[in-house]
Amino acid sequence: MYLGIDLGTSSVKALLIDASQAAIASATAPVELSRPHPGWSEQDPADWIAATEATLDELKARHPAELAAVKGIGLSGHMHGATLLDASDEVLRPCIMWNDTRSHAEAAKLDADPRFRKITGNIVFPGFTAPKLAWVRNNEPDVFAKVAMVLLPKDYLRLWLTGEHMSEMSDSAGTSWLDVAERRWSRELLEATDLAEKQMPRLVEGTAPAGTLRAELASKWGLKPGIPVAGGAGDNAASACGMGTVKPGHAFASLGTSGVLFAANGSYLPNPASAVHTFCHALPDTWHQMGVILSATDSLNWLCEITGRSAAELTAELGDSLKAPGGVTFLPYLSGERTPHNDAAIRGSFTGLGHEAGRATLTQAVLEGVAFAFRDSLEALRAAGTELSRVTAIGGGSRSRYWLQSIATALGVPVDIPADGDFGAAFGAARLGLIAAEKADPLVVCTAPKTEETIEPNRALAAAYNDAYQRYRALYPAIRGVS
Ligand code: XUL
Repeated sequence: MYLGIDLGTSSVKALLIDASQAAIASATAPVELSRPHPGWSEQDPADWIAATEATLDELKARHPAELAAVKGIGLSGHMHGATLLDASDEVLRPCIMWNDTRSHAEAAKLDADPRFRKITGNIVFPGFTAPKLAWVRNNEPDVFAKVAMVLLPKDYLRLWLTGEHMSEMSDSAGTSWLDVAERRWSRELLEATDLAEKQMPRLVEGTAPAGTLRAELASKWGLKPGIPVAGGAGDNAASACGMGTVKPGHAFASLGTSGVLFAANGSYLPNPASAVHTFCHALPDTWHQMGVILSATDSLNWLCEITGRSAAELTAELGDSLKAPGGVTFLPYLSGERTPHNDAAIRGSFTGLGHEAGRATLTQAVLEGVAFAFRDSLEALRAAGTELSRVTAIGGGSRSRYWLQSIATALGVPVDIPADGDFGAAFGAARLGLIAAEKADPLVVCTAPKTEETIEPNRALAAAYNDAYQRYRALYPAIRGVS
């Protein structure tokens, strides 16, 4: 047995797989997010531990024998978050999350220093970790003075599980402190934010062991003490391990809180000008590119709150077959946007509303707006030298067939739906746990699931979708001028 733990933005998920990689059991527990000011997004790291404990309690109650047979653990988590610890490993302030944009001025300042793009291969986005530390230095100097260790969210879980300060390449690539080509911390970039390498965790590859389970926790859940905890991965690279997106030509579209168009690369192919992210993959000698949409299912969830309907109710009102886009356009920039705009200040909008625009019209526009944001990411990946001929859909939003048809048509490429199963970040993390424990070949372990069905682009609506995409493209500069 192997255990994958994914610290998601809205919940922690623990998944047990057996030696044949079949999912045996899973448990989830919710995690709260707080938005104390506009643009802020925070979580209390103590809640991550409590939620992880709840999932392990549940697995122990339902599957004690399987839990006792676990030989390796893998971790995955939401990326970029700044978890700040003092010299006694006490948390100094709430974690500043990936979708927090308060540090946009600090990010722009660091991004203007050419060394950042050159060494990290990426724009310094406000969501990344380094500008958050610059914000803390400027606004909470007492906290900054006490920072002895900066950990990414899943690596804080590792500290609790193993007692070690360690991280791995895929998540660390999203800090703006990693030399992404060389896969090591950049002393130069750390110094540019008044930090030093001793405040950073030790780095391994995601497939390598990075600490062993503490005896106290092992006895609490009936796990074997001393089992290895793999380096693991940031949630996107972990999902890629789960989906077998590990070789050039493989790609997935993830419809989660954030939307991600992810392509694996056999070499380091940076292109910060297109606002594409170029990160290390969780596997050695492998990199990946991705376009990131900050509010994907988050946009639909926002409409759910406004209308008091569930996502399933809203999408059911559209019926099964794809409709031509109407005159209403939605820009999904509720938290600003990364790819392709790198604009923390922009906010979402509906345009083209008439008296006849009812709830279903708004739902349709929200789904289309996110589909067009995926098209923007596809164009950005193209500009970075990556051509995609098909993508596999994952994430909660991929339960909506209407949304998948809309995305296939907006992208103009087929969208594969994997056969029933759980191939997300927790599964990828469990695979990394297996690889670390068994010294297995990552390419043999990280295979792609069978495709259950392929959604082809709707050729009859291609022209209408293209027109609507051009309208969507034209709106960002217009809205930016007035917001
Ligand atoms: C990636 C990113 C998000 C989070 C969501 O750069 O910020 O996808 O990892 O969990």
